[in-house]
Amino acid sequence: MSTPHIGAVEGQIAKTVLMPGDPLRAQYIADNYLENVTKFNDVRNMYGFTGTYKGKTISVMGSGMGMPSIGIYSYELFKFYDVENIIRIGSCGAYTKELELYDVLLADAAWSESSYVKTQSGKDVSITYPSEVLNGRILEVAKELNIHVTTGTVHSSDVFYRENFLEYKEIRDQHNCLAVEMESFALFHNAKILNKNAACLLTVSDSLVTAEATSAEERQNAFTRMMDIALGLAE
Ligand code: HPA
Repeated sequence: MSTPHIGAVEGQIAKTVLMPGDPLRAQYIADNYLENVTKFNDVRNMYGFTGTYKGKTISVMGSGMGMPSIGIYSYELFKFYDVENIIRIGSCGAYTKELELYDVLLADAAWSESSYVKTQSGKDVSITYPSEVLNGRILEVAKELNIHVTTGTVHSSDVFYRENFLEYKEIRDQHNCLAVEMESFALFHNAKILNKNAACLLTVSDSLVTAEATSAEERQNAFTRMMDIALGLAE
């Protein structure tokens, strides 16, 4: 059985799937962290792999960028492949100077002006929530690894390049958003309607407050910290 966008057969995908935006990141994780790896998807080059981490089975697959893309892949994984948990692992832009570059942020809510939920289910909703259970486990693993994690609301935006009619500060102050990314609102909604679990772990890749630059080496280190936490959720 395959779906319009995923070419896997039943049983090839683990109960827990990590989703970076970039399918080449999924390949990197499979190559560098997992053993006994099989590739289950290459439709549209949106690679997906299943392997073992410390003896436990876990999958990793690209989500693409933005809510329409993660909306499609997460729906098909939850609905047609019996996936129980999806943990998005991505990057975000900081809206506050309290968040420094490379900090790890765990979303405890996603606010959005997106029409994703309205279009998908007819409901007028502007905030969606991750699984409290998954978030609790992520915080436990982070504590064991001694990695500091900030929790807060993220802004899931449909637009990366905005005209300046609306300053990020207004969104931050009105909706209590610590950072911006582009996927969580849709992911959390799909998990809710399908009775599954989702979470979103982010590293700060840029700051709208300070416009600081990032180095490739530090980005990789920050990514490694986030991966160590996320892989701790393999069951
Ligand atoms: N905007 C939207 N998504 C992002 C950003 C940003 O500045 N940085 C990382 N993901």
